[in-house]
Amino acid sequence: MKFFIDTANLDQIKEAQDLGVLDGVTTNPSLMAKEGITGKENIIAHYKKICEITTGDVSAEVIATDFDNIVKEGEELAALHDQIIVKVPMIKEGIKAIKYFSDKGIKTNCTLVFSAGQALLAAKAGATYVSPFIGRLDDISTDGLNLIMEIRQIYDNYGFDTQILAASVRHTMHVIDCAKIGADVMTGPLSAITGLLNHPLTDIGLEKFLADHKKGN
Ligand code: G3P
Repeated sequence: MKFFIDTANLDQIKEAQDLGVLDGVTTNPSLMAKEGITGKENIIAHYKKICEITTGDVSAEVIATDFDNIVKEGEELAALHDQIIVKVPMIKEGIKAIKYFSDKGIKTNCTLVFSAGQALLAAKAGATYVSPFIGRLDDISTDGLNLIMEIRQIYDNYGFDTQILAASVRHTMHVIDCAKIGADVMTGPLSAITGLLNHPLTDIGLEKFLADHKKGN
């Protein structure tokens, strides 16, 4: 299972990278704005900085919503760095663009996916990744993890290569449940990764080992 971090915060990306388990980064316009990164030039410079920190895939989202401009913007983003994955929204023009990018060998991440039907379309169009937003489904009292299960079954039935990128992951239990279901990737905040480290019995056990070692020396 690949671990992506869902942030545009360079310090957090560095921290996850330093842990040695980071496989990539996902961003979106809201995460960029949260870091105060605005304007095309600044956004492009920020993507380049992210690519310098991580060795994995970096999702960069298009803003355009019509085919011609999604293609123009996506090609510009893809040309920035070979780690860039063009993130395209799940809309009609987006699906057309994903098919276009797929035919040209440009990798894509189909974002804002909330149903199995949308995920099936993204795979048919040749998306590299599909991003079902599980946390946002949970927010509206719908079972986000069930969507991951449905997509896993559909993709396995037909051998689709599209990787399931469980997005809008909020906490460690989402990560563990996605791993049990067989999501190919999860993207979440730093806390969802570092939280996996924690268990009180680990802390108690280590404290005792160190105390016993001290007694014997
Ligand atoms: O990867 C999708 C993500 O950025 C959305 O997460 O927590 O805003 O629902 P969230």
